[in-house]
Amino acid sequence: MKFDTPATTNPIDRLKVVGQPLDRIDGPFKTTGTAPYAYERHGVAPNQAYGFVLGAGIAKGRVNAMDTAAARRAPGVLAIVTTLDMPKLEKGQTNAAALFGGAEIQHYHQAVAVVVAETFEQARDAAGLIRVDYARQPGRFDLAAEARHAPLVGGDSEEGSGAPPEDRVGDFEGAFAAAPVKLDETYTTPDESHAAMEPHASIAAWEGDRLTVWTSNQMIAWGKRDLAKTLGLKPENVRIDSPYVGGGFGGKLFLRADAVLAALGAKAAGRPVKLALTRPLVANNTTHRPATIQRIRLGATRDGKITAIAHESTSGNLKDGKPETAVSQTKLLYAGANRLTSMRMAEMDLPEGNAMRAPGEAPGLMALEVAIDEMAERLGMDPVEFRILNDTQEDPEKPGRRFSQRQLVQCLRQGAERFGWANRNFRPGTRREGRWLVGMGVAAGFRNNLLTKSAARVRLDGQGVVTVETDMTDIGTGSYTIIAQTAAEMMGVPIGKVVVRLGDSDFPASAGSGGQWGANNSTAGVYAACVKLREQVAQKLGINSADAVFEDGQVRAGNRAAPLGQAAGPEGLSAEDVIEYGDLAKRYQQSTFAGHFVEVGVDAMTGETRVRRMLAVCAAGRILNPKSARSQVIGAMTMGVGAALTEALEVDTRHGFFVNHDLAGYEVPVHADIPHQEVIFLDEVDPVSSPMKAKGVGELGLCGVGAAVANAIHNATGIRVRDYPITLDKLI
Ligand code: MOS
Repeated sequence: MKFDTPATTNPIDRLKVVGQPLDRIDGPFKTTGTAPYAYERHGVAPNQAYGFVLGAGIAKGRVNAMDTAAARRAPGVLAIVTTLDMPKLEKGQTNAAALFGGAEIQHYHQAVAVVVAETFEQARDAAGLIRVDYARQPGRFDLAAEARHAPLVGGDSEEGSGAPPEDRVGDFEGAFAAAPVKLDETYTTPDESHAAMEPHASIAAWEGDRLTVWTSNQMIAWGKRDLAKTLGLKPENVRIDSPYVGGGFGGKLFLRADAVLAALGAKAAGRPVKLALTRPLVANNTTHRPATIQRIRLGATRDGKITAIAHESTSGNLKDGKPETAVSQTKLLYAGANRLTSMRMAEMDLPEGNAMRAPGEAPGLMALEVAIDEMAERLGMDPVEFRILNDTQEDPEKPGRRFSQRQLVQCLRQGAERFGWANRNFRPGTRREGRWLVGMGVAAGFRNNLLTKSAARVRLDGQGVVTVETDMTDIGTGSYTIIAQTAAEMMGVPIGKVVVRLGDSDFPASAGSGGQWGANNSTAGVYAACVKLREQVAQKLGINSADAVFEDGQVRAGNRAAPLGQAAGPEGLSAEDVIEYGDLAKRYQQSTFAGHFVEVGVDAMTGETRVRRMLAVCAAGRILNPKSARSQVIGAMTMGVGAALTEALEVDTRHGFFVNHDLAGYEVPVHADIPHQEVIFLDEVDPVSSPMKAKGVGELGLCGVGAAVANAIHNATGIRVRDYPITLDKLI
């Protein structure tokens, strides 16, 4: 189905099932431990052996030699494959560096060997007996030092849309020089880890040339393509299966070493191999959100109209990596005639930087929305009013190109009302409760809404059961449930009559889970397949599909009615389709918006910050399931608190690795850190986004939160910290 004119009324609009706050259909499997995660697929391939990955102990240089003799003699060892056993493997399309093979070391904990043994302990023990002789070379590990000579580089975030290295509109320098009120500040964000609960893990099994990998991956079609390329296999000989994913956040968008080395280990051992990356390897062997240095300049008239806006971001990455697209929201969020955005990338020798939840906007807004707060302060304006004054309903870089929906002003106004913003003291440091300095902060949330094609297959059997198959993944987001809701609505059956099967590369290729595009696009693909299935049912009954009503488990036309199962017949019916997007997507700017409000207390003695209340008001098209959407947003808000207050991968700038590479040293917020969260979704449908009229919320919930926390800390204390995370040492 080609979607190229705005959606009109369709069966989804009935909202009998879609739009309802239904419990997750996969919830009971997860809470009873019967949902099989990658490392727990005991039944899929008999006689599984255990793999253990050895990571390089240097960040840059070469492997001269590896002595595996002692390891090979160790108890239970079945096979060892070292990086010197094979040339450097082909690089997958989404990988910045090769995942294995050859003598060259490009980053710390690059995989240098896989050991396969009868037990996990034996494999780990033997890996410790491998002697590696390295030729170490000096590397570039300090972003601040490398940033001084970083060239302009275009971006290509996970959505695959190219972002130019520099964008100019009007005359920024002239307008900034002439502006009566100015700001010129630099903000820094650290390297961050996805810190998913489930580490990267895979079980691989060969049958001749055919490889099956049971794994944990967000993007099945990318994984299949890149695994085939890396191992030199025909794509049709590779199958990937990932029905449950214990958190991804972008860390599992790509093929990583677990899948590749499970496959190589299995080939060498002649047995299926299961393997998980250890926590340190998750930090240093996979991808992370790269640190940024962001300079923002704003110029405004005395009455608060922005006349000049510049945002320049620098980040580091491996040679073939991309810069963090931290300036993307600045192109679209506020009006202003004279604009400059640019990205620089310093080539560095740290592990690969890549997409982490809301890549670009998450760190970008941590800078921009503090700058906006600072500018409001200089202007003597309320920061909510300053944002509203500079709202725009069209793309500020492309006049005339409108947003399909843009309710930022409504988000801010409703949020201010609901949060009690009127009680905020304008002067910072003036509200004290015992030892706590108390303050409120606000930030705008912004994340683009991305459209990408998505396919599904839907079957209807003689009992009236609808089965949906698509390679879409559920990374804890609720995909199973909203897909079931979509099929139930379209076919007029209760949700209990829908079976959803996900994550298998044998199913039609979906949008996958990334860039908050999963919900809208994958359900739109299911919608398209259901439209075809409805046509088949109508045809079988000899009725016009336009007259057919699918409701209460029946199909009706005029005064005829038949149970759906009977209409399908004993053989059942099956339909497959793909939703594809035409020019419509290009004619409108599609984005999602939020107002984030935070109240903090800062201990006047110790500088400790405690978040007291949080509110997000979101405008993101139709909300397919308010319960799972709320869970997405409160999880994202929690992640935003982590980004603001605790999360940072600490770089050892001598040896080039992330030191705090586990969940003890890398601090994410826990329940006790997050006392009260509220989420409001504005009533919105976006007929330009898809037949579902929905957009994404999973990343929007994070975008702006860090800045709202920082702004609240400033309101509480009068201290402006521009270097995240805002740990207590920076407040004393
Ligand atoms: Mo997201 S960073 O595209 O999983």
